[in-house]
Amino acid sequence: MKILLAGASGAVGRPLIARLLREGHEVWGMVRRAENLPVIQELGAHAVEGDALDRAGIFALLEQVRPDVVIDQLTSLPASPFELAQRLPADRVLRLEGGGNLHDAARAVGVRRYLQQSCGFYLDGGGALATEESPLRAGAPGGIGESARMYEALEKRALSDADMEGVALRYGFFYGPRTWYWSDGAFSLHVRKGEVPVIGAGRGTFSFIHVDDAAQATAAALHAPAGRYNVLDDQPTELSRWLPAYAKWVGAAVPAHLDEADATRQMGQEGVYYQNSLSGASNRKARMFLGLTPGRVPWLQD
Ligand SMILES: NC(=O)c1ccc[n+]([C@@H]2O[C@H](COP(=O)([O-])OP(=O)(O)OC[C@H]3O[C@@H](n4cnc5c(N)ncnc54)[C@H](OP(=O)(O)O)[C@@H]3O)[C@@H](O)[C@H]2O)c1
Repeated sequence: MKILLAGASGAVGRPLIARLLREGHEVWGMVRRAENLPVIQELGAHAVEGDALDRAGIFALLEQVRPDVVIDQLTSLPASPFELAQRLPADRVLRLEGGGNLHDAARAVGVRRYLQQSCGFYLDGGGALATEESPLRAGAPGGIGESARMYEALEKRALSDADMEGVALRYGFFYGPRTWYWSDGAFSLHVRKGEVPVIGAGRGTFSFIHVDDAAQATAAALHAPAGRYNVLDDQPTELSRWLPAYAKWVGAAVPAHLDEADATRQMGQEGVYYQNSLSGASNRKARMFLGLTPGRVPWLQD
Protein backbone atom coordinates (compact mmCIF):
# COMPACT_ATOMS: atom_id res chain seq x y z
CA MET A 1 0.00 0.00 0.00
CA LYS A 2 1.16 3.55 -0.66
CA ILE A 3 0.92 5.52 2.58
CA LEU A 4 1.36 9.20 3.39
CA LEU A 5 2.27 9.63 7.07
CA ALA A 6 1.89 13.15 8.48
CA GLY A 7 3.83 13.72 11.70
CA ALA A 8 6.46 11.24 10.50
CA SER A 9 9.28 12.53 12.72
CA GLY A 10 7.26 12.37 15.97
CA ALA A 11 7.37 9.88 18.84
CA VAL A 12 4.97 7.45 17.17
CA GLY A 13 5.79 8.48 13.58
CA ARG A 14 9.32 7.06 13.66
CA PRO A 15 8.52 3.54 14.92
CA LEU A 16 5.48 3.55 12.64
CA ILE A 17 7.66 4.14 9.57
CA ALA A 18 9.86 1.19 10.56
CA ARG A 19 6.81 -1.01 11.09
CA LEU A 20 5.11 -0.07 7.81
CA LEU A 21 8.30 -0.64 5.81
CA ARG A 22 8.81 -4.06 7.46
CA GLU A 23 5.29 -4.96 6.35
CA GLY A 24 6.14 -4.08 2.74
CA HIS A 25 4.36 -0.74 2.36
CA GLU A 26 5.60 2.24 0.36
CA VAL A 27 5.87 5.03 2.92
CA TRP A 28 5.98 8.77 2.32
CA GLY A 29 6.85 10.57 5.54
CA MET A 30 5.79 14.20 5.77
CA VAL A 31 7.59 16.64 8.07
CA ARG A 32 7.32 20.40 8.46
CA ARG A 33 10.98 21.20 9.06
CA ALA A 34 13.48 20.48 6.29
CA GLU A 35 16.11 19.44 8.84
CA ASN A 36 13.95 16.41 9.64
CA LEU A 37 13.95 15.10 6.06
CA PRO A 38 17.16 13.05 6.61
CA VAL A 39 15.56 11.41 9.69
CA ILE A 40 12.83 10.00 7.46
CA GLN A 41 15.26 9.01 4.69
CA GLU A 42 17.54 7.22 7.16
CA LEU A 43 14.54 5.18 8.30
CA GLY A 44 14.12 4.12 4.65
CA ALA A 45 11.00 6.09 3.66
CA HIS A 46 10.43 8.78 1.04
CA ALA A 47 10.69 12.15 2.79
CA VAL A 48 8.48 15.10 1.88
CA GLU A 49 8.33 18.58 3.35
CA GLY A 50 4.87 20.05 3.93
CA ASP A 51 3.19 22.50 6.25
CA ALA A 52 -0.28 21.18 7.11
CA LEU A 53 -1.47 24.76 7.58
CA ASP A 54 -0.58 25.61 3.97
CA ARG A 55 -3.79 24.37 2.33
CA ALA A 56 -2.68 24.84 -1.28
CA GLY A 57 0.68 23.21 -0.55
CA ILE A 58 -1.00 20.18 1.05
CA PHE A 59 -3.35 19.75 -1.90
CA ALA A 60 -0.35 19.90 -4.27
CA LEU A 61 1.54 17.36 -2.14
CA LEU A 62 -1.35 14.89 -2.13
CA GLU A 63 -1.74 15.36 -5.88
CA GLN A 64 1.97 14.53 -6.26
CA VAL A 65 2.06 11.48 -3.93
CA ARG A 66 -1.47 10.08 -4.55
CA PRO A 67 -1.44 7.66 -1.61
CA ASP A 68 -3.94 4.87 -0.94
CA VAL A 69 -4.00 5.71 2.78
CA VAL A 70 -3.24 8.82 4.87
CA ILE A 71 -2.19 8.53 8.51
CA ASP A 72 -2.60 11.74 10.54
CA GLN A 73 -0.19 11.83 13.50
CA LEU A 74 0.12 15.63 13.52
CA THR A 75 0.79 17.22 16.90
CA SER A 76 2.36 20.38 18.18
CA LEU A 77 2.97 19.46 21.80
CA PRO A 78 5.72 20.67 24.14
CA ALA A 79 8.69 18.66 25.33
CA SER A 80 7.20 18.70 28.85
CA PRO A 81 3.59 17.99 29.88
CA PHE A 82 4.01 20.86 32.38
CA GLU A 83 4.02 23.28 29.42
CA LEU A 84 0.84 21.90 27.88
CA ALA A 85 -1.36 24.87 28.75
CA GLN A 86 0.76 27.28 26.69
CA ARG A 87 0.98 24.94 23.69
CA LEU A 88 -2.60 23.63 23.50
CA PRO A 89 -3.96 26.49 21.37
CA ALA A 90 -1.35 25.93 18.63
CA ASP A 91 -1.83 22.17 18.88
CA ARG A 92 -5.58 22.58 18.36
CA VAL A 93 -5.06 24.79 15.32
CA LEU A 94 -2.66 22.28 13.80
CA ARG A 95 -4.90 19.28 14.35
CA LEU A 96 -8.20 20.94 13.45
CA GLU A 97 -7.14 23.24 10.60
CA GLY A 98 -3.95 21.53 9.43
CA GLY A 99 -5.49 18.07 9.80
CA GLY A 100 -8.62 19.43 8.09
CA ASN A 101 -6.54 20.48 5.08
CA LEU A 102 -4.95 17.05 4.98
CA HIS A 103 -8.32 15.32 5.20
CA ASP A 104 -9.87 17.48 2.46
CA ALA A 105 -6.83 16.96 0.21
CA ALA A 106 -6.93 13.20 0.82
CA ARG A 107 -10.58 13.10 -0.22
CA ALA A 108 -9.84 15.21 -3.31
CA VAL A 109 -7.36 12.63 -4.64
CA GLY A 110 -9.49 9.60 -3.81
CA VAL A 111 -7.64 8.28 -0.75
CA ARG A 112 -9.36 5.05 0.35
CA ARG A 113 -8.72 5.09 4.11
CA TYR A 114 -7.79 7.78 6.67
CA LEU A 115 -6.25 6.93 10.06
CA GLN A 116 -6.55 9.60 12.73
CA GLN A 117 -4.63 9.95 16.00
CA SER A 118 -7.15 10.29 18.83
CA CYS A 119 -6.99 9.97 22.61
CA GLY A 120 -7.70 7.05 24.94
CA PHE A 121 -7.08 8.80 28.26
CA TYR A 122 -9.77 11.50 28.24
CA LEU A 123 -12.61 8.97 27.86
CA ASP A 124 -15.41 8.77 30.39
CA GLY A 125 -15.89 5.16 31.42
CA GLY A 126 -18.61 6.10 33.91
CA GLY A 127 -16.80 4.39 36.80
CA ALA A 128 -15.64 1.41 34.72
CA LEU A 129 -13.06 0.92 31.99
CA ALA A 130 -13.93 3.00 28.92
CA THR A 131 -14.79 1.24 25.66
CA GLU A 132 -14.95 2.48 22.07
CA GLU A 133 -18.54 3.55 22.80
CA SER A 134 -17.49 5.77 25.72
CA PRO A 135 -17.65 9.52 25.17
CA LEU A 136 -14.72 11.88 25.50
CA ARG A 137 -14.77 14.13 28.59
CA ALA A 138 -16.05 17.19 26.75
CA GLY A 139 -17.31 18.80 29.97
CA ALA A 140 -14.05 18.44 31.92
CA PRO A 141 -12.38 21.58 33.30
CA GLY A 142 -9.76 23.63 31.45
CA GLY A 143 -7.42 22.10 28.92
CA ILE A 144 -8.76 18.58 29.50
CA GLY A 145 -12.24 19.57 28.28
CA GLU A 146 -10.78 21.63 25.44
CA SER A 147 -8.65 18.73 24.28
CA ALA A 148 -11.55 16.28 24.63
CA ARG A 149 -13.73 18.51 22.45
CA MET A 150 -10.93 18.69 19.89
CA TYR A 151 -10.61 14.88 19.80
CA GLU A 152 -14.41 14.62 19.40
CA ALA A 153 -14.15 16.86 16.33
CA LEU A 154 -11.21 14.88 14.91
CA GLU A 155 -13.05 11.59 15.36
CA LYS A 156 -16.20 13.01 13.78
CA ARG A 157 -14.22 14.24 10.78
CA ALA A 158 -12.48 10.90 10.29
CA LEU A 159 -15.48 8.65 10.92
CA SER A 160 -18.29 10.45 9.12
CA ASP A 161 -16.88 10.77 5.62
CA ALA A 162 -18.99 9.05 2.99
CA ASP A 163 -16.09 8.52 0.57
CA MET A 164 -13.15 7.57 2.82
CA GLU A 165 -13.05 4.80 5.42
CA GLY A 166 -12.12 6.30 8.76
CA VAL A 167 -10.22 4.84 11.71
CA ALA A 168 -9.75 6.71 15.00
CA LEU A 169 -6.90 5.39 17.14
CA ARG A 170 -7.50 6.27 20.77
CA TYR A 171 -3.96 5.89 22.09
CA GLY A 172 -3.14 5.66 25.79
CA PHE A 173 -0.40 7.76 27.35
CA PHE A 174 2.66 7.13 25.19
CA TYR A 175 5.85 5.81 26.73
CA GLY A 176 9.04 4.74 25.00
CA PRO A 177 11.81 6.72 23.29
CA ARG A 178 11.09 10.44 22.73
CA THR A 179 8.06 10.50 25.07
CA TRP A 180 7.36 12.44 28.28
CA TYR A 181 7.23 9.29 30.38
CA TRP A 182 10.43 7.61 29.18
CA SER A 183 13.32 7.41 31.67
CA ASP A 184 14.97 10.46 30.04
CA GLY A 185 11.66 12.23 29.29
CA ALA A 186 10.49 15.50 30.80
CA PHE A 187 8.05 13.88 33.22
CA SER A 188 10.87 11.84 34.79
CA LEU A 189 12.88 15.03 35.35
CA HIS A 190 9.95 16.67 37.17
CA VAL A 191 9.47 13.53 39.30
CA ARG A 192 13.20 13.42 40.14
CA LYS A 193 12.97 17.03 41.28
CA GLY A 194 10.05 16.11 43.56
CA GLU A 195 7.65 18.34 41.62
CA VAL A 196 4.84 15.80 41.11
CA PRO A 197 2.83 15.05 44.27
CA VAL A 198 -0.09 12.63 44.53
CA ILE A 199 -3.12 14.89 44.83
CA GLY A 200 -5.86 13.72 47.18
CA ALA A 201 -6.46 10.00 46.82
CA GLY A 202 -4.98 9.88 43.29
CA ARG A 203 -7.99 7.84 42.16
CA GLY A 204 -7.68 8.58 38.42
CA THR A 205 -6.91 5.51 36.32
CA PHE A 206 -4.24 5.72 33.60
CA SER A 207 -3.66 3.46 30.60
CA PHE A 208 -0.25 3.69 28.90
CA ILE A 209 1.02 2.30 25.58
CA HIS A 210 4.55 1.83 24.26
CA VAL A 211 5.07 3.66 20.97
CA ASP A 212 6.20 0.37 19.33
CA ASP A 213 2.90 -1.26 20.34
CA ALA A 214 1.04 1.82 19.08
CA ALA A 215 2.90 1.45 15.77
CA GLN A 216 2.00 -2.26 15.51
CA ALA A 217 -1.70 -1.54 16.11
CA THR A 218 -1.69 1.39 13.70
CA ALA A 219 -0.20 -0.73 10.92
CA ALA A 220 -2.83 -3.42 11.62
CA ALA A 221 -5.55 -0.77 11.35
CA LEU A 222 -4.78 -0.46 7.63
CA HIS A 223 -6.70 -3.71 7.11
CA ALA A 224 -9.14 -3.84 10.06
CA PRO A 225 -12.80 -2.79 10.05
CA ALA A 226 -13.19 1.00 10.08
CA GLY A 227 -14.13 2.70 13.36
CA ARG A 228 -12.66 3.51 16.77
CA TYR A 229 -10.02 1.47 18.57
CA ASN A 230 -8.65 1.93 22.09
CA VAL A 231 -4.92 1.29 21.68
CA LEU A 232 -3.63 0.95 25.20
CA ASP A 233 -2.08 -1.48 27.65
CA ASP A 234 -3.51 -4.28 29.81
CA GLN A 235 -2.63 -2.52 33.05
CA PRO A 236 -5.03 0.37 33.75
CA THR A 237 -3.70 1.59 37.10
CA GLU A 238 -4.70 4.25 39.61
CA LEU A 239 -2.29 7.16 39.86
CA SER A 240 -1.83 6.55 43.61
CA ARG A 241 -0.17 3.25 42.63
CA TRP A 242 1.62 4.01 39.37
CA LEU A 243 3.21 7.34 40.33
CA PRO A 244 5.19 5.94 43.31
CA ALA A 245 6.18 2.93 41.16
CA TYR A 246 7.27 5.29 38.39
CA ALA A 247 9.30 7.39 40.87
CA LYS A 248 11.08 4.24 42.02
CA TRP A 249 11.76 3.23 38.39
CA VAL A 250 13.46 6.56 37.64
CA GLY A 251 15.37 6.56 40.94
CA ALA A 252 13.38 9.39 42.53
CA ALA A 253 12.12 9.77 46.10
CA VAL A 254 8.59 8.68 46.99
CA PRO A 255 6.22 11.44 45.79
CA ALA A 256 4.71 13.73 48.43
CA HIS A 257 0.96 14.01 49.02
CA LEU A 258 -1.04 17.20 48.59
CA ASP A 259 -4.64 17.48 49.68
CA GLU A 260 -7.24 18.51 47.14
CA ALA A 261 -7.98 21.90 48.70
CA ASP A 262 -4.29 22.92 48.70
CA ALA A 263 -3.85 21.59 45.17
CA THR A 264 -6.88 23.55 43.95
CA ARG A 265 -5.48 26.73 45.51
CA GLN A 266 -2.02 26.16 44.02
CA MET A 267 -2.85 24.86 40.55
CA GLY A 268 -6.58 25.14 40.01
CA GLN A 269 -9.29 22.57 39.55
CA GLU A 270 -7.76 20.89 36.52
CA GLY A 271 -4.82 19.24 38.33
CA VAL A 272 -7.15 17.69 40.90
CA TYR A 273 -9.45 16.45 38.14
CA TYR A 274 -6.52 15.05 36.11
CA GLN A 275 -5.24 12.95 39.00
CA ASN A 276 -8.60 11.83 40.37
CA SER A 277 -11.16 11.56 37.56
CA LEU A 278 -9.54 10.03 34.48
CA SER A 279 -10.69 6.58 33.34
CA GLY A 280 -8.58 3.70 32.13
CA ALA A 281 -9.85 1.92 29.04
CA SER A 282 -10.33 -1.58 27.70
CA ASN A 283 -8.20 -2.74 24.76
CA ARG A 284 -10.45 -5.73 24.04
CA LYS A 285 -11.45 -4.56 20.56
CA ALA A 286 -7.85 -3.75 19.56
CA ARG A 287 -6.71 -7.17 20.80
CA MET A 288 -9.39 -8.82 18.72
CA PHE A 289 -9.17 -6.84 15.48
CA LEU A 290 -5.65 -5.34 15.50
CA GLY A 291 -3.78 -8.21 17.17
CA LEU A 292 -2.58 -5.83 19.88
CA THR A 293 -0.50 -7.63 22.53
CA PRO A 294 0.98 -4.74 24.52
CA GLY A 295 4.21 -5.11 26.46
CA ARG A 296 4.25 -4.60 30.21
CA VAL A 297 4.81 -1.05 31.44
CA PRO A 298 8.35 -1.12 32.91
CA TRP A 299 7.41 0.64 36.15
CA LEU A 300 4.43 -1.73 36.67
CA GLN A 301 6.27 -5.03 36.41
CA ASP A 302 5.08 -6.59 39.67
N1 LIG B 1 -1.10 9.65 23.37
C1 LIG B 1 -0.12 10.34 23.92
O1 LIG B 1 0.28 10.13 25.07
C2 LIG B 1 0.56 11.41 23.12
C3 LIG B 1 0.14 11.74 21.84
C4 LIG B 1 0.88 12.68 21.12
C5 LIG B 1 2.00 13.22 21.69
N2 LIG B 1 2.35 12.88 22.94
C6 LIG B 1 3.58 13.41 23.58
O2 LIG B 1 3.92 14.67 23.09
C7 LIG B 1 5.33 14.75 22.94
C8 LIG B 1 5.61 15.19 21.54
O3 LIG B 1 4.86 14.34 20.65
P1 LIG B 1 5.18 14.04 19.17
O4 LIG B 1 6.31 13.09 19.07
O5 LIG B 1 3.92 13.66 18.48
O6 LIG B 1 5.60 15.51 18.71
P2 LIG B 1 6.69 15.97 17.72
O7 LIG B 1 7.97 15.27 17.89
O8 LIG B 1 6.64 17.46 17.84
O9 LIG B 1 6.07 15.49 16.34
C9 LIG B 1 5.03 16.15 15.73
C10 LIG B 1 5.04 15.79 14.27
O10 LIG B 1 4.13 16.66 13.61
C11 LIG B 1 4.83 17.38 12.60
N3 LIG B 1 4.29 18.72 12.47
C12 LIG B 1 4.16 19.65 13.43
N4 LIG B 1 3.61 20.79 12.90
C13 LIG B 1 3.41 20.53 11.59
C14 LIG B 1 2.88 21.28 10.51
N5 LIG B 1 2.43 22.55 10.65
N6 LIG B 1 2.80 20.70 9.30
C15 LIG B 1 3.25 19.43 9.10
N7 LIG B 1 3.76 18.67 10.08
C16 LIG B 1 3.85 19.22 11.31
C17 LIG B 1 6.27 17.42 13.07
O11 LIG B 1 7.15 17.70 11.99
P3 LIG B 1 8.56 18.43 12.33
O12 LIG B 1 9.26 17.48 13.28
O13 LIG B 1 9.26 18.58 11.05
O14 LIG B 1 8.21 19.72 13.00
C18 LIG B 1 6.41 16.01 13.63
O15 LIG B 1 6.60 15.09 12.59
C19 LIG B 1 5.91 13.37 23.23
O16 LIG B 1 6.48 13.37 24.49
C20 LIG B 1 4.73 12.47 23.21
O17 LIG B 1 4.86 11.45 24.18
C21 LIG B 1 1.66 11.99 23.68
